[in-house]
Amino acid sequence: MSYLIPASLLHYDSSLETPEADEAETIHALLEALHKINETTFRDNHHGLRSVHAKSHGLLTGELRVLEGLPPELAQGLFAQGGTYPVVMRFSTVPGDLLDDKVSTPRGLAIKLIGVPGDRVSGSENDATQDFVMINGPVFGAKDARHFLGSLKLVAATTDKGEALKKVFSAVARGTEKLIEAFGSKSGTVIALGGHPETNLLGETHFTQAPVRYGRYVAKLSLVPVSPELRALTNAPVDLHDKPNGLREAVIQHFAQLGGEWELRAQLCTDVASMPIEDASVEWSQDKSPYLSVAQLSVPAQTAWSEARSEAIDDGMAFNPWHALAAHQPLGSIMRARKVAYEVMSKVRARQNHRLITEPSALPLLS
Ligand code: HEM
Repeated sequence: MSYLIPASLLHYDSSLETPEADEAETIHALLEALHKINETTFRDNHHGLRSVHAKSHGLLTGELRVLEGLPPELAQGLFAQGGTYPVVMRFSTVPGDLLDDKVSTPRGLAIKLIGVPGDRVSGSENDATQDFVMINGPVFGAKDARHFLGSLKLVAATTDKGEALKKVFSAVARGTEKLIEAFGSKSGTVIALGGHPETNLLGETHFTQAPVRYGRYVAKLSLVPVSPELRALTNAPVDLHDKPNGLREAVIQHFAQLGGEWELRAQLCTDVASMPIEDASVEWSQDKSPYLSVAQLSVPAQTAWSEARSEAIDDGMAFNPWHALAAHQPLGSIMRARKVAYEVMSKVRARQNHRLITEPSALPLLS
């Protein structure tokens, strides 16, 4: 594979991050809103759910192979040398409630690599996992934690499964719209309820949206479907008529017969002015710096979702960008807010479900 590395790259330095003076207060307020969403859905479901991305549509295991012989600029951190790692993948949609798939919102994909050696970020010192937590668009809906707070408060105010069940459509739509504005990258096209094309989520490309340290450099990452069977599903319609779990059913159907291959790609930052660290709503120009392949993710045919998998992965695991090597420290306002939010909220749902969530040291045995 030949790589066109941009001529000048931004070197990582801790001074690239410039937190706002009142960031701690903003994060506290974000947590209040996340608690409120969780309390509402716990009351309705009697089960502890993620306060966002509650519904899973595919729970897969596979293997990530770091490419051999990467150019030095890409051979950083986890990608410094070739190697393979077991991977858990969780496909989700944004809302904090288990809505009918007709309420169509952006899609998320979290991956967890297991058995990754190396120095760790603070809070993750005793683990050996590397998570990448992504959404199906290149940018986040809010530039920083403070701007995200307003949207999340509105989501918290409109989260109520009871309303959805009673088909108080506008309430759901409002909540969904705010979620899309808050989290979505395709807000222009997906805002109307049902306005999102009903497509198979296996065809989506997912992005970290916010940057991470990339060893000596800084990057955003994406996961791109590359095998022909997955590529055929990009923008492929999926039938959701009278199928509240139709997205999940389509994933189960695919992996009952076929596997899938994705490429993990890194987009290196060339300059902090046009590729900001603190503003996750700015798209980094792919003309200046394209996403370049650093690893291949392979998933064999398997049972893509089952109650047993949901217990093991939805309830028994937490994906968190701060489960990370120091060489891939998450960067910027949105990422700093996530450090507290994911840790606190995963503990809340673990307690509600009487579970202990710990980082895995091997792939779970799944049926
Ligand atoms: C300040 C901004 C954000 C906050 C406060 C936030 C908060 C959260 C929380 C509390 C969870 C549930 C954690 C758990 O219970 O285990 C979660 C899950 C998730 N978030 Fe975020 N998030 C933010 C930004 C983002 C961004 C930028 C992305 C991706 C580009 C993202 C993608 C996801 C995904 C895919 C999940 C589901 C992970 C899983 O499958 O377990 N979030 N988020």
